[in-house]
Amino acid sequence: MARLMGIDVGTSGCKVLLTDERGHVLMEASAEYPLSSPKPLWSEQNPEDWWQGVETCIRDIGVAPDAIGLTGQMHGAVFLDVHDKVLRPAILWNDQRTVEECAEIETSVGADRVRAITGNPPLTGFQLPKLLWMRNHELSRFGQVRSALLPKDYIRLKLTGEKATDVSDASGTGIFDVGRRAWSEEIAARLELDLSLFPACFESPTIASRTLEVAGLPAGLPVVGGAGDQAAGAVGTGTVEPGVVSVSLGTSGVVFTSLPGFAYDPLGAVHTFCHANGGWHTMGVMLSCAGTIRWLRDTLYAGEGFDRLTAEAASIEPGCEGLTFLPYLTGERTPHNDPLAKATWAGVTARHGRAHMARAVFEGASFGLRDAYDRVRALGAVAAEVRVTGGGARSDFWMQLLADVLETPCLRMEVDEGPAFGAAILAGVGAKVFRGVEEGCAACVRTSDRIEPSGTGYREPLERFRALYNALKNWNGPR
Ligand code: XUL
Repeated sequence: MARLMGIDVGTSGCKVLLTDERGHVLMEASAEYPLSSPKPLWSEQNPEDWWQGVETCIRDIGVAPDAIGLTGQMHGAVFLDVHDKVLRPAILWNDQRTVEECAEIETSVGADRVRAITGNPPLTGFQLPKLLWMRNHELSRFGQVRSALLPKDYIRLKLTGEKATDVSDASGTGIFDVGRRAWSEEIAARLELDLSLFPACFESPTIASRTLEVAGLPAGLPVVGGAGDQAAGAVGTGTVEPGVVSVSLGTSGVVFTSLPGFAYDPLGAVHTFCHANGGWHTMGVMLSCAGTIRWLRDTLYAGEGFDRLTAEAASIEPGCEGLTFLPYLTGERTPHNDPLAKATWAGVTARHGRAHMARAVFEGASFGLRDAYDRVRALGAVAAEVRVTGGGARSDFWMQLLADVLETPCLRMEVDEGPAFGAAILAGVGAKVFRGVEEGCAACVRTSDRIEPSGTGYREPLERFRALYNALKNWNGPR
């Protein structure tokens, strides 16, 4: 039996998994590292912390795999000099310092062209505006930049000595031609940037480089292109063919599906990126999903816990007798792209108590996912079932609510190990254990229970939810 290693360079920590070729997890190790916010809206990490974490985990596992797949937080920027020395802390996906640079990209490239090439509007989290920010704010350091790497690809450099990336992660830079699956010469020319700053780009399951003798590993193990955390997570749930949609109920919420071909949302509400299987995918990203439930536990239910909160929510009628919650605790990406959006309860009457407020939060988070689900379906995705992952998937109450709100059967996964699991499957494709990503998913991915929609309708509460955002949009300033 082949042994496959998946390495996930996440935001709060890293995880290394060893699986066999049937998707059984043999060993796993994880490590945490700090995140720093030296100024408001900034979010940075030290790439050396990632490497120390990953190296420790690989040594803890202590078994040489047949192949390695890398995945990790997307969009971040590691800037290297001519000696491959890190020039400044990495600027991460959730850093918001680049509003002006995004405007600069729209002006220089053209708002329509940028969407047609990259499949997305320029977003503050993407890598390209971070590079322009360095040119605008740290000019002498910018002059020393010879390479810009994504987070997982810095780990590849440490593991293999090679600079490379994959098409799904490159799609989140903002300088990648997503339809043609290549770096965009047009955007580089418009912004007077040298494309040699960016590494060689491979399809996700292709062997991109081989290990040096590091972290207790022997030299020469194949390391595939890998994928950004969302695409790798989707491989781990088998979301690689039409008809399957995955929903991740993490701090943020993601609705993800494969596309039959390259298509993008002209409104920019959902992303289109290259998928790890040679095709494309679209996804809607909600910034506070299960995060709203954790916030509720820590505030109205401080000291009482999730079980109490969920039991109270479940005791209330669907629709909460007219109470509505908007889940925009940290602004919103899909569908509004509105960093200033706020959360609120509206429609409070004397009949409402804490339990109604709790149910309204679950409903609001689910309606936000419904908004993303409708946008991805508007791009041509067909959904026969939804595969649900993340911490929220453990709640029976939320799973039923989600099946009812999405009006689609919702399934749990037998192995819910996140992106590292998908990266291990991609490694198996590279090592020729599987003939393709779909075959790897068929061998390794299994769903467990299936929750059917109960027939409870949410049409009126959903309309109320949508009308509320529109009514409040300009409440704290026009946009
Ligand atoms: C995807 C996204 C996050 C990051 C961090 O667009 O912003 O999933 O990759 O996990």
